[in-house]
Amino acid sequence: MKRAVYPGSFDPITNGHLDIIERAAKVFDEVIVAVLVNPDKKGLFDINERVMLIKKCVSKFNNIRVEGFSGLLINFMKQTESSVIVKGLRAVSDFEYEFQMALMNNKLDPNIETVFMMTNAKYSYLSSSSVKQVAQFGGCIKDLVPNDIIDDITKKINNMGEKGYGSYKITGVSPRDI
Ligand code: PNS
Repeated sequence: MKRAVYPGSFDPITNGHLDIIERAAKVFDEVIVAVLVNPDKKGLFDINERVMLIKKCVSKFNNIRVEGFSGLLINFMKQTESSVIVKGLRAVSDFEYEFQMALMNNKLDPNIETVFMMTNAKYSYLSSSSVKQVAQFGGCIKDLVPNDIIDDITKKINNMGEKGYGSYKITGVSPRDI
């Protein structure tokens, strides 16, 4: 069985991520979406919440699993007996960062291969950070994230209060109506 791991911070999952997950699930027998900590990024959702949101979006696929993990990706790979990492590439700007991570993971465990899938052109501008920013200022996030999780994102941002994402509350209209 050829199993691949699609790792990321997924804070939150976007339509670009979902597109890569669905395409990877056609190429590999099983895909594990691994929600990991990226110490360079400030989180909106905690790991368990991110896992729950992704599960909502992939429940109809029987060869996709979603798991959270706190630690090195290569340790997760060992634990799940996986040897292939799938990553999405959007633009040249992603390349340097992804190249460095792929080489580091291969250095830490030479059995690990990283394969890259080109993003669907219609999602090439999309990132979790831009989704959070649009939602924070009351913009419409329809078509950016799966419909199933729009309300979760809106509620989360509204509930953040003054802790970070929240002094700009989304009031009046639901993003679905904008
Ligand atoms: O979606 P992201 O933020 O680009 O994903 C990055 C992620 C979470 C895959 C990366 O930060 C990661 O692998 N974190 C776990 C720690 C680790 O293994 N780091 C070594 C690679 S440099």
